[in-house]
Amino acid sequence: MHKITPKDKIRAVLRVPADKSISHRAVIISSIAKGRTFIKNFLYSHDTNASFKCTRSLGVKTERKTEGAVFISSEGMYFPRNRQIVLNTANSGTTLRLMSGILAPQKFDSVLTAEESLRKRPMKRVTEPLRLMGADVRGRSIRGEEYPPLYIKHKLPIRGISYRLKVSSAQVKSAILFASLFAEGVTKIKEPVQSRDHTERMLKMFGASIKKEKGFIYSGKSSLISPGSIFIPGDLSSASFFIALGAVLDKSEIVIKNTGINPTRMGFINVLRKMGARIKVINKVMYFEPYGDIVSVSSKLKGVVVKKEEIPLMIDELPLLFVCASFAKGTSIIYGLKELKVKETDRISSMVYNLKRAGIDIRAEYYRGDWRVIVKGIGADRDRIKPAGFKSFSDHRTAMSMIIFGIASSKECDIDDINCIGKSFPGFINTVNSLSGNKLVY
Ligand code: S3P
Repeated sequence: MHKITPKDKIRAVLRVPADKSISHRAVIISSIAKGRTFIKNFLYSHDTNASFKCTRSLGVKTERKTEGAVFISSEGMYFPRNRQIVLNTANSGTTLRLMSGILAPQKFDSVLTAEESLRKRPMKRVTEPLRLMGADVRGRSIRGEEYPPLYIKHKLPIRGISYRLKVSSAQVKSAILFASLFAEGVTKIKEPVQSRDHTERMLKMFGASIKKEKGFIYSGKSSLISPGSIFIPGDLSSASFFIALGAVLDKSEIVIKNTGINPTRMGFINVLRKMGARIKVINKVMYFEPYGDIVSVSSKLKGVVVKKEEIPLMIDELPLLFVCASFAKGTSIIYGLKELKVKETDRISSMVYNLKRAGIDIRAEYYRGDWRVIVKGIGADRDRIKPAGFKSFSDHRTAMSMIIFGIASSKECDIDDINCIGKSFPGFINTVNSLSGNKLVY
């Protein structure tokens, strides 16, 4: 058990590590882009290492220097490999889904395996559109769903498709976009609601013919060329933990430098602002991925209603939003949460379990074919929090969200397992310790 001690105010300037989604895409896209790409500020974490190792196993030349400097040298769209290969994607759903779109059109068979928790996550959402494109990709079939490993057989040609995604998922969209680079004809994609657009932005940087028009994304056959170097800004999802802390603690101000501010990731900040949070973005830089310094100041949060359409823009911050709603005055209702059930863990159950233990009035309800969560916040009345033992359920975002809750609470709490945090933010514990005087260790 790891003890979490509350802290009453924090004033700090800090940095968070590079964006996880962009880091995955940087190594994967560079691995099929002719030339040598210098990736500045790559995230070293369990998940992004899985993508890095996969590209290396496929025969791509990779070099890792200090401080997040990574070099990828590629011959072009087809990997040097010409024999069957089994690739382990560890616990990284992004690696698995993104790689499936690049491996499907290659000239060899491959298998994408995964660790136990990822083996439980649904993959039909990606195998189905790839099969419609002519690829031979299938997962382990169980009661109408498909799960990892994914078995990919060499089968050409790949054809462009017109496809409406059933769920707004950047991973699925990216897999289809990657396959479209090898396909005959145009691929046209429509998402129910826009998801993060890092793939579209980066593919443009690497010379792909891709455009967005009237809500559709169009993509076609392309030979990617390395732009030479790319810089990856700090991860807004990692920064969100400190944005939340700055907002819920009294007399506090936290500045997070050089953080990505891509509009398709700003959902959490937008909702926090609706709740009354005082958050500013300063020193903006308009790069292919915009970034800036985020300033979050103590605020009196009030309850909020979040609509289903707002969810994709804050999908990874929802556990943290439940924490913020717990400290708000009044009731929050968050709709459209069913995708949370198929993340690293069922994040609705894990967060309801933890927050209830601390005495928060939170409940999840199945409502009109989807899930919603209702939180009755305690406002300034922090004494209502009960000292509690939390469980991370081996989920990095549940663990980090509950540590933030513990620091902002009034009672000493503890948490069972924090090793999972290395999946996206290995330095989180050090940052938290230095800000709050805690002594958490992995
Ligand atoms: C990601 C997309 C999201 C997100 C995940 C990273 C990406 O998943 O939850 O952490 O990098 O494309 P979905 O595509 O399943 O929504």
